Amino acid sequence: MKKMEIARTGDELRLHCDAWRDLGYTIALVPTMGALHEGHMKLVETAKRRADIVIVSIFVNPLQFGKGEDFDRYPRNEEADLEKLRAAKADLAWLPRAEELYPPGFCTTVHVEGPARAGLEDAHRPGHFDGVATVVAKLFIASGCHLAPFGEKDYQQLLVVRRMTRDLGLPVEIVPVPTVREESGLALSSRNAYLSPERRKTAALIYEELERAAKRLKQGVSAEAVAFDGRQALIDAGFEVDYFVVRNAETLRPVKDQRTEPLRILAAARLDGVRLIDNIPVA
Ligand code: PAJ
Repeated sequence: MKKMEIARTGDELRLHCDAWRDLGYTIALVPTMGALHEGHMKLVETAKRRADIVIVSIFVNPLQFGKGEDFDRYPRNEEADLEKLRAAKADLAWLPRAEELYPPGFCTTVHVEGPARAGLEDAHRPGHFDGVATVVAKLFIASGCHLAPFGEKDYQQLLVVRRMTRDLGLPVEIVPVPTVREESGLALSSRNAYLSPERRKTAALIYEELERAAKRLKQGVSAEAVAFDGRQALIDAGFEVDYFVVRNAETLRPVKDQRTEPLRILAAARLDGVRLIDNIPVA
């Protein structure tokens, strides 16, 4: 069986990617911050189906974390991650060091607006999406990938990355992948590791409330009422709610006509200081 390659430097990565491209292979890149779970592995599976070669990057990107966020304590487990990627038959794991992506004197970033200024994650994490867009653009350019799957779990990020890719003219197809959940409905997230088993049960309420909201929207209840009630239900259950909103699924702008626009319900809430996000379509 072919063993999975590991690249740490840009040169190592290029060596492999250039050879693969010369052979005419299509390359998929799955960008991650590690602490891999079934959600990430679904992205890897999607990549395997859609491309000849699958590269998975693991990089906890300092540029997208704000002051006081969990950069230092973000779960890191390189060996376990590599085992999972080997089992999933990824072709290459790319583990760049921060100095590799951000050389001394680094001062060039990608600034994003549009979906990155929807008043959702951006309102609570200033600079976050510039950090995401910058690293993703760098990962795309360095790998020369043809496609990249992104999880709908981070729906605003998905739209931001898609917009950035179009605007910079990067020839990369962004492939959305539906959210993978626990049986309880809780969306898988590396940050769930911070929750006690008891709190994990409570956390599943976010999805329950999103589902209830979607059902009520379909029954014709107004977006404002649905959003208000969803937020209140989470507050009553002990969450600190950052937002619980119904938005246009393509632009993330507030809804003008809920009967004709594609809708997405998005929520972010903290439980014992652990920040959880989730969203669902209104089908
Ligand atoms: P990370 O949180 O590690 O997520 C990597 C990818 O996995 C993202 O596309 C995310 O949406 C997807 N993902 C996470 N949980 C998922 C779930 N339960 N179901 C489906 N997909 C899921 O998102 C990032 O890292 C970073 O911002 C990154 C894009 C790597 C840039 O640094």
